Amino acid sequence: MAVGIFDSGLGGLTVLDAAQRRLPDVDFLYYGDNARAPYGVRDADDVYQLTKSAVHDMWDKGCDLVILACNTASAAALRRMQEGGLPQGKRVLGVFVPLIEALTERQWGDNSPPREVEVKHVALFATPATVASRAFQRELAFRAIGVDVEAQACGGVVDAIEDGDMILAEALVRSHVDALKRKMPHPQAAILGCTHYPLMEQTFQKALGPDVQVFSQGSLVADSLADYLTRHPGMHGDGEGGFFTTGDPSRVSDRAAQFLRREITFQAA
Ligand code: DGL
Repeated sequence: MAVGIFDSGLGGLTVLDAAQRRLPDVDFLYYGDNARAPYGVRDADDVYQLTKSAVHDMWDKGCDLVILACNTASAAALRRMQEGGLPQGKRVLGVFVPLIEALTERQWGDNSPPREVEVKHVALFATPATVASRAFQRELAFRAIGVDVEAQACGGVVDAIEDGDMILAEALVRSHVDALKRKMPHPQAAILGCTHYPLMEQTFQKALGPDVQVFSQGSLVADSLADYLTRHPGMHGDGEGGFFTTGDPSRVSDRAAQFLRREITFQAA
């Protein structure tokens, strides 16, 4: 029994970590396409093809439910995969919707019409591909009216994190926050719209200041997944859990251990 968690690389581990804490009895199969990360500088069709192929591999490994713990893949591939038809009994979900439901104070899965919400000025930090897709604004418009979103494409941050260069990642985050603040001086909320960014959450919060509420996806996606599994109890799959990568397993295991501060052993996908 394993629920699949997919990312282009290491960022999805922030979602996996929260999901394991929230659902200690559920097994997870993590799959990082590290050989092809970052996705955020690829075009939408490329991201769709790569995501689709990885998700099919995860379904073949026995997962019935795969979470795209990657905003870039969720933006470029989720809707297209769902509209193209999924194999019998298989499901794929993304990470935008739980975040937007939390931001707009909705119950998980509440699809009622859009309404006025408390938050009016939102800063979105994401990869260039996610920002270009405008998928966040589209999903938000289904649920809320009158919210002003200023998006900042954070080039370079994912590469720096994948390379383990946290000093560069911090410097880039500070400069992206400065750029955002020039466009929107007083955001009320900031969305970390890339699953790599929770690893930099303190740097974002410090640069944004204490008055800005920072939303990051780990625990929100975990809570929404727990609710989904209660409503769909047959979606645990029949495969075994584990950690798979298309990259170099020993290098990826080392980086993952650094991030999660526990030993993780990846194997070749
Ligand atoms: N963690 C992915 C996301 O949430 C990173 C994308 C990338 O590989 O650039 O968007």
